[in-house]
Amino acid sequence: MKWKIPLFKIYWENDDIESVTKVIQRGTYWAIGPEIEQLETEIAQYIGTKYALSFNSGTSALHADLLAHNINDGEVIVPSFTFIATANAVVLAGAKPVFAEIEGESYGLDPENVKEKITKKTKAIIPVHYGGGPCKEIEAIREIAEDYKLILVEDAAESLGSKINGKMIGTFGHSSMFSFCQNKIITCGEGGVIATDQEDVYQKLKLIRSHGRVETQGDYFSTTEEMDYVQVGYNYRMTTISAALVSSQLKKIDKIIDMRRKKALYLNEKLSKIKGLKTPVELKNSYNVYQLYTIQFDDESDKDKIHNHLTNLGIMTKVYFEPVHLKTFYCKNFGYHKGNLPKTEELSKKVLTLPLYPTLSNEEMNYIIDSIENCIG
Ligand SMILES: Cc1ncc(COP(=O)(O)O)c(C=O)c1O
Repeated sequence: MKWKIPLFKIYWENDDIESVTKVIQRGTYWAIGPEIEQLETEIAQYIGTKYALSFNSGTSALHADLLAHNINDGEVIVPSFTFIATANAVVLAGAKPVFAEIEGESYGLDPENVKEKITKKTKAIIPVHYGGGPCKEIEAIREIAEDYKLILVEDAAESLGSKINGKMIGTFGHSSMFSFCQNKIITCGEGGVIATDQEDVYQKLKLIRSHGRVETQGDYFSTTEEMDYVQVGYNYRMTTISAALVSSQLKKIDKIIDMRRKKALYLNEKLSKIKGLKTPVELKNSYNVYQLYTIQFDDESDKDKIHNHLTNLGIMTKVYFEPVHLKTFYCKNFGYHKGNLPKTEELSKKVLTLPLYPTLSNEEMNYIIDSIENCIG
């Protein structure tokens, strides 16, 4: 179906085309080109970490990062209210995802429930910063990780540029992952990055990302010297074309965030007048970049009504997220079932994500608002 108003549209300008064209026209180094390190320096600077390493997706980045922290068995605490990749990366690394509950404002992990899920086998916690907003209790979760000597990896796939108490998301944990998939704040279609202050993790990530290869002689494509491979690894590298594109997108991230925020604040103002639904909570001392615009209904049946009504009008809406622990793979392989996480299961039935993108027009927003009002107002 062709949506009249899709859930997202990519924001791009002509300089994005120019930066990609430059790499293509060079006729070489479409892999392992200088734009990759350049992007990594820029991203590290933007987030405020010592190191950043690019990957061909957020999922491969998260998988590699867990391995770099030596997490290949034991348990890792994750929310179930997330994209499946958060839990899949844990399974791919060889550990068991243990799902914890979330709170209903930022949809971030609930620290009390996280504590209850800690066992002798727990190795790490992966809080998710949902939809462009910070996980409200990230400080408390960081303290728990410190107290129990657990690795803290932030899944910040959706929240590049978001802050809490003036501190950038992605600087709370031992490392953090951001995604550049096409519906994210800035994008190259598919891509991801790990940000960290730890040199040892950074060095391990380099090996895991590229076949376990030691590249002291320069890069693989530029040298005839023999190279050593000291462990097994993947090819999780981002292409140079993608790196050039993310780099170009990063130049306008402030503008993109500003555009998204203006739309979100307009929707907040108008939709908050409608009874039976809550607009996204902008927490005190936090800065939300609104990668998703998710509303919460008091009543599940209203959510279904609105979803169907808007779908019929060609306005795309979607549930972000359905509980991961109830997906077939997790039920079959780990024995999870309905009732394991009552709060997550309940919230998941009441949320609906509406279209939001930098070029969403006032006319389109008013159409969405009026359509909701007409249906349940
Ligand atoms: C919370 C979360 N974690 C992980 C991912 C995986 O990132 P990617 O799609 O870049 O592999 C995503 C992106 O879709 C996400 O939203």
